[in-house]
Amino acid sequence: PVTCMFQARISQRRGYATPAEERDLVIIGGGVTCIEKRGALGGTCLNVGCIPSKSLLNNSHLYHQILHDTKNRGIDVGEVKLNLANMMKAKDTSVNSLTKGIEFLFKKNNVEYIKGTAAFADEYTVAVNLVDGGETSVRGKNIFIATGSESTPFPGLTIDEKKVITSTGAIALEKVPKKMVVIGGGIIGLEMGSVWCRLGADVTVVEFLGQIGGPGMDAEISKNIKKTLEKQGMKFKLNTKVVKGDDSAEIVKLDVEAAKGGKPETLEADVVLVAIGRRPYTAGLGFENIGLETDNKGRLIIDSEYRTKLPHIRVIGDCTFGPMLAHKAEEEAVAAVEFLTKNYGHVNYNAIPSVMYTHPEVAWVGQNEAELKEAGVKYKVGTFPFSANSRAKTNQDSDGMVKFLADAETDRILGVHIVGPNAGEMIAEGTLALEYGASTEDIGRTSHAHPTLAEAFKEAAMATYGKAIHY
Ligand code: NAI
Repeated sequence: PVTCMFQARISQRRGYATPAEERDLVIIGGGVTCIEKRGALGGTCLNVGCIPSKSLLNNSHLYHQILHDTKNRGIDVGEVKLNLANMMKAKDTSVNSLTKGIEFLFKKNNVEYIKGTAAFADEYTVAVNLVDGGETSVRGKNIFIATGSESTPFPGLTIDEKKVITSTGAIALEKVPKKMVVIGGGIIGLEMGSVWCRLGADVTVVEFLGQIGGPGMDAEISKNIKKTLEKQGMKFKLNTKVVKGDDSAEIVKLDVEAAKGGKPETLEADVVLVAIGRRPYTAGLGFENIGLETDNKGRLIIDSEYRTKLPHIRVIGDCTFGPMLAHKAEEEAVAAVEFLTKNYGHVNYNAIPSVMYTHPEVAWVGQNEAELKEAGVKYKVGTFPFSANSRAKTNQDSDGMVKFLADAETDRILGVHIVGPNAGEMIAEGTLALEYGASTEDIGRTSHAHPTLAEAFKEAAMATYGKAIHY
């Protein structure tokens, strides 16, 4: 049997392993699937990350659209009112049904579920502090660590999840802030900033770098989405760093200055969202008892088969190397189990898509222009704007573009970058193309249904090796 341990409430009536009984595989945590203090399965993603934020992104978009974008569609609406409590309830309902779904899958697949806090007692024994009180321990021939990550704090600001918040507070505010300042213009900053901007907050994003979107986003795409988000009312201060924060009064004050030295300024906000990245979460796991090592960023050190220096202990997800994405952790979990059971496994780290769920969405896979330049790769570019796509036009939702980067000689696709409606769904085709080693001509010669947004994808591919038809 497989045993999963959760830092959470548990009914002890379900017949766990008796103390120190040996199991074939013990998993501590699990990002998308395991360790959880809050009494529900699904990790950060399902409980306080990807899933609740998408509920709020979807419904705040609908609200914003009904407020601002119905007249020109021939829809006259009456008074539109925000019921924030109900919007939060809708989010909770989605989250709850999904966490229950995982519990059901655990039962169906005979995965034992222990709610409690785990720590290594020795190399093969995990001691668990049960949430309902008491202790147990489980011995594993193999143990997986998948404890995920936590928000990186901002020095000088105390997170109370009300006035100074991380993404966790940002999905649970009880009222719309008047003025919100977001520290960090990465994915969390832009997604959660979008939600509260649509619901009426005055949102300013302070970003240290010269572009928004966090690591990986292509510079041209980043500029494009910035313009659109500005049209929606978001304000940006790029090349700006927050040097000091003061949260002692009701209004939080942030001293900012241009990154390369410049005029200092003090920003005031009733809510400050700290979104400057996440860091591996491995506290309290008892590594001192077994000697596991982390690097200078706190990531657990592993080999290509996800093994630590103790080969029966493997690590996947945010607490080790690579992008902090739920679907990356999922691929790694499968590969790690395959290495364990079959001696082979596979994750193509070059074909892990990234999606930012703003409106329009931004999605990409493979390399961006800056990365190709740095690697000295000769490449060609093909783009196609959604303003020339019939479906985007009829949807009256035509901001954005598709951009292909392909090897200048072989035409092999090296990167796909999309900013536009449904980019997050469309990137699946780009990921498949990359995984299969397709050329842009392979895409251009593949029939795409008309009228669909995906035709913009085909035409951008055509523009890379030849010429788009409609632009
Ligand atoms: P991020 O790494 O995407 O962006 C952080 C941004 O903050 C960077 O642009 C950085 O330059 C900036 N920054 C850092 N220190 C700063 C400072 N002192 N002042 C101003 N700016 C500063 O991190 P984020 O947005 O917190 O997300 C954390 C992780 O969660 C990322 O790995 C992200 O990919 C993942 N995530 C993914 C989502 C998705 O796939 N849709 C949604 C939410 C999070």
